[in-house]
Amino acid sequence: MQRHVDLDRSVRRPAYANWLGNSNSITQQFMAIGGRKDVVSLAGGLPASEFYPKAAIEDASRKALQRWGSAALEYGPIEGFPALREHIAARISKAAGRSFTAANVLLTVGAMQGLDLIGKALLDKGDLIVAQHPTYVGALDAWRPRQPSYAPLDWSLAEPAFSKRLARAKFVYAVPNYSNPTGALVPTAARQALLERVMASGTWLVEDDPYLPLQYDGDAGPSILALHGAMAPNGPYGGPVIYLGTLSKSIVPGLRVGWTIAEPGMIQNLTLAKQSSDLSSSMLTQAVALELLEHDVEKDHVPGMVERYRERRDMLCKTASRHLSDWFEWEVPPGGMFVWMRAKDPRIDTNDLYAFALEEKVAFVPSSVFDNAGELRNAMRVNFTRTPPEIIEEGILRLAKATKRYLASLG
Ligand SMILES: Cc1ncc(COP(=O)(O)O)c(C=O)c1O
Repeated sequence: MQRHVDLDRSVRRPAYANWLGNSNSITQQFMAIGGRKDVVSLAGGLPASEFYPKAAIEDASRKALQRWGSAALEYGPIEGFPALREHIAARISKAAGRSFTAANVLLTVGAMQGLDLIGKALLDKGDLIVAQHPTYVGALDAWRPRQPSYAPLDWSLAEPAFSKRLARAKFVYAVPNYSNPTGALVPTAARQALLERVMASGTWLVEDDPYLPLQYDGDAGPSILALHGAMAPNGPYGGPVIYLGTLSKSIVPGLRVGWTIAEPGMIQNLTLAKQSSDLSSSMLTQAVALELLEHDVEKDHVPGMVERYRERRDMLCKTASRHLSDWFEWEVPPGGMFVWMRAKDPRIDTNDLYAFALEEKVAFVPSSVFDNAGELRNAMRVNFTRTPPEIIEEGILRLAKATKRYLASLG
């Protein structure tokens, strides 16, 4: 993938930091492709903007300003808007079946900032992260400047060296609900088993849960935070789980409101890390988010949106079965935003296929960006939420054409 380059070689300036040599601009590229009308983008992890609850947001914005006045326009506490922290603490207490207080809550600029702050607070150069593999590219990006090392999380936990590795790791990173990029749902027993190993090893466990609201085939089951809550239901929360949530997938990403739930000492250290990132995130969007949550906008909005997304998922899988199944295989994801297509033909390198796809005016995300070393080349992530069904169909046809041309070019 494209590396960072300084195009102006005529001027000698100090070098960029070392970590940039191992960075990629893929997310920037996908954001740009998403704006091109001629390209069917099955690349980004974006919600469908036509379903955004705009009227509710307009109403909430007015109410927030009437209610809080200039308090919503100030710098605020680094930990976040106090009333929203209380609200999120109550929401998580209900979901996880044990009591959390505002001291367990840090409000962030999306869950993405939570990932960044965890890296800032926990990682020194070379520290080990045990991460679900393939790994969410945003998490890899967030931690890249810290130059950590990675070991894959095998959910079977069968590997004999796994416990020793856990004991050396700074944290485990997992997206158990409809993972990005694979869409996989991790069964409750596997979550419980991992939690027990994490508790025995004394490390942290980062549970990243943005896709919880997008359930198409039944219930997601309890979060790892809830499983820990059931084991330690009383007193202030002091467990190893650092849980990340967001309004990006259930309401809109543009609010940039997310939360990190953890024991109070971790929250304090993440707050110190946040201080130098943004001083305080927007009180205005947090106040708007509070209005939306107090008026239960998700309850009105999410079921209809999930229905549409299910149709789109089904259209993508049906069309792909017709046109791509000679070359790729996949599982139908029970939730989330992505289908993870693995090449059956060992000659397929999705980095190379990507160039052919762009020529056919369709985009996906090649698997290499979900691997810290960039070596995973045999799969692609395909998004189904952003694009209307008839355009998904066209995108898959273009992808089939690109695959045929690519394979023909191999001879
Ligand atoms: C696994 C995962 N974590 C975190 C995020 C970031 O979400 P947010 O918009 O809340 O920053 C995403 C966004 O796509 C994601 O897929």
